[in-house]
Amino acid sequence: MNNFVYHSPTKVYFGQGYESQIGALLKEHGFRKPLMVYGGGSIKRSGLYDTVTASLKDAGLTWAELPGVQPNPLLGLAKQGIALFRAEQCDVLLAVGGGSTIDTAKVIGLGVPYDGDVWDFWCGKADPKTGIPTVAILTIAAAGSETSESAVITNEDGMQKKGRNSIFNRPLFSILNPALTATLPAYQTACGAVDIMMHTLERYLTLPGEVELTDRIAESVLLTVRHWAPVAIAEPDNYEARAQLMWAGSLSHNDLTGCGHASVFINHKIGHELSATHDTAHGASLAIAFPAWAKYSYLYNVPRFAQYAVRVWGCEMDYQHPENTALAGIQATEDFFRSLGMPVRLSYIDVPESEIDLLANRITANGKLSFKSYVDCGTKEFTEILKLAK
Ligand code: NZQ
Ligand code: ZN
Repeated sequence: MNNFVYHSPTKVYFGQGYESQIGALLKEHGFRKPLMVYGGGSIKRSGLYDTVTASLKDAGLTWAELPGVQPNPLLGLAKQGIALFRAEQCDVLLAVGGGSTIDTAKVIGLGVPYDGDVWDFWCGKADPKTGIPTVAILTIAAAGSETSESAVITNEDGMQKKGRNSIFNRPLFSILNPALTATLPAYQTACGAVDIMMHTLERYLTLPGEVELTDRIAESVLLTVRHWAPVAIAEPDNYEARAQLMWAGSLSHNDLTGCGHASVFINHKIGHELSATHDTAHGASLAIAFPAWAKYSYLYNVPRFAQYAVRVWGCEMDYQHPENTALAGIQATEDFFRSLGMPVRLSYIDVPESEIDLLANRITANGKLSFKSYVDCGTKEFTEILKLAK
């Protein structure tokens, strides 16, 4: 087992009705004026906007608003949020929505106390020294941003989509009411399911291999999503299904499923590039990346991929040829993603083979970057992986 530091301080309020206490909870924490950040309108259609603002009013709080966060959120809007937060003299960020909304709030949270360009933190020019707290009311089980230390943003200048980890990104508290996810379209539910699985798999399918307790937790998350995602898609109002997915999403990316393991996130590098250049939903981009990356990688770690196949997908162990078991698990994953309605090849999102070199070069900043997986992944390796996704 590798050494690790586990620090996941976000307080979680899980279950029905907590969103109507948001005003009182903010007040209890000593805040007086939140900047409320939200997306393209789902919270207005569902009535959540009214619930939240009524609760703020009841608690005697005033607030400012930044609407209009889009999926794969843009830096420009976050910069508007930084200016608004300062002008309105807010003291906390209240994100009401999914990963895109929460991440926009986190970017604002790092940007407000910083004199320079907030992008400095994403392009490696500076490290955050402090941050404004973010509080989240989650409306989709997916990205795990409600408990994670990551914030992912796209800079319109060159459409660069990048993540940034910082302890200041961990939300102070998050409200998780599974009933708020009942209005999700099936496609978004499916994207979320894939993302939850991938946050666990990017940690699980790594060296040094078995870490018994962490592995069993990770497998539980994967089995839970495997069981409940199809139920949530077939029965959007099924509270139990929504609850299982929501909790799986938060545990999958609060670092619990990585204790003692490496974490690789190569699939996310590919996914971010597909989202930035082809406006692909995050989970869908990962459904395309994973089968290709896994086929490229499994021979470096056959026992691990075979364990995954047996324990998560119930594949039979082929002791003579365990690589066949490993491949069966990869195929089962792909079939599952497909059954949820996800694209699993580049062609499904109209990316032609002729674009593969360009994509690989963009991921590695024209060969300047490489990322550690079983092998160091540079332009050549990303090109080979992407060819397996065509
Ligand atoms: O904008 P609105 O109108 O709210 O609609 C959203 C959006 O169109 C809709 N939606 C959300 N909740 C809904 C709903 N529609 C109906 N009913 C509801 N209850 O769903 C669409 C997608 O929302 P988004 O916030 O983009 O989804 P998700 O949570 O999947 O977030 C994806 C973003 O998070 C990043 C991704 O890269 C992507 O940019 N990630 C963030 C991570 C983190 N901070 O730790 C880790 C992840 O790996 C990921 O990279
Ligand atoms: Zn993800």
